[in-house]
Amino acid sequence: MSGEESFTIGNTAQEKGFDYVPECYVVSPTKASSQAQVPTIDMARLRKTGSERSVAVNELGEACRRRGFFQVVNHGISQSILDEVLAVASGFFDLPAREKLKFKSSDVYKPVRYATSLKDGVDKVQFWRIFLKHYAHPLEAWIDSWPDNPPHYREKMGKYCAEVRKLALELMGTVIESLAISPNHLIQKIQDGMQVIAVNCYPPCPEPDAALGLPPHSDYTCLTIVLQNSTGLEILDTEDGDGNWIAVPEIHGTLLVHVGDHFEVLSNGVYKSVVHRATLNSERTRISIASLHSLGMDDKMGTAKEVVDEENPKRYKESSFRDFLDFLATDDIADGKRFIDTLRI
Ligand code: OGA
Ligand code: NI
Repeated sequence: MSGEESFTIGNTAQEKGFDYVPECYVVSPTKASSQAQVPTIDMARLRKTGSERSVAVNELGEACRRRGFFQVVNHGISQSILDEVLAVASGFFDLPAREKLKFKSSDVYKPVRYATSLKDGVDKVQFWRIFLKHYAHPLEAWIDSWPDNPPHYREKMGKYCAEVRKLALELMGTVIESLAISPNHLIQKIQDGMQVIAVNCYPPCPEPDAALGLPPHSDYTCLTIVLQNSTGLEILDTEDGDGNWIAVPEIHGTLLVHVGDHFEVLSNGVYKSVVHRATLNSERTRISIASLHSLGMDDKMGTAKEVVDEENPKRYKESSFRDFLDFLATDDIADGKRFIDTLRI
């Protein structure tokens, strides 16, 4: 092959099902050294009262402090809702290219967009991923701009978005409680906040160890909730030294939760925004649905006054979702740049 190939959307190796990995995809990632022991948060215990709840709240705080990552069980979202949303997500990616390309855009400010890699046609390094992103809250404002194909996409996705948002609000409220931050003002902003859905598709890759689906990054959010149909997510464990990649096992029916940059800022770095990446496999298409939760578009997240004192001065500048989009539009996260690094004082 020549070095002149152009992998613009519609023509990428992952969409065309290449039987080799082109040079511009090769990043030769270091392999995960182990499977993660993922802390499990049991929503049934968080929904109790008294000491049982306090213990669960402390465990949640501990998971946020340690790696900024945990899984949730007994979340109350029925298995049929999870199965159906994964089915319509797969169904979308199975559509003929012309149907999907109706939504194509490399403009990061677009509320609905279909794209590959990070900034299609601009980034030098490519990743083996196709995605559809769309805003999801308030549902009535956005649902009519979503794909109406496959036929039940809006209905099934809408149902999941509403359910997962309720869970996210409950978890965000609990995170705030675990930090002993005065809740009223912040909870209101979170309730008025944004929900963005990233529907990710990672087709089988002929040399899964050569490329990545998504490069290492952290999410800009308060919290992100991820539903996946198979394994592939890895998180960076920085507890000792430079960090090892650890593979997150797939446990049917659980949801995965990432602490994002905005909660690291809120907690003044006490809670960690987890660095994660998506790896590939050669056999099956992996689908993941990430629900990204933040404050409103122009609402600034800053460090809570309760976690700052003379010994622990404020370590981050405040920022909004729009500030993140401005970062995304100009910086290349494939180079390993992180939004949170731009916020450090
Ligand atoms: C994301 C993300 C992980 C995955 O969309 O931000 O990290 O497993 N996705 O697809
Ligand atoms: Ni992510």
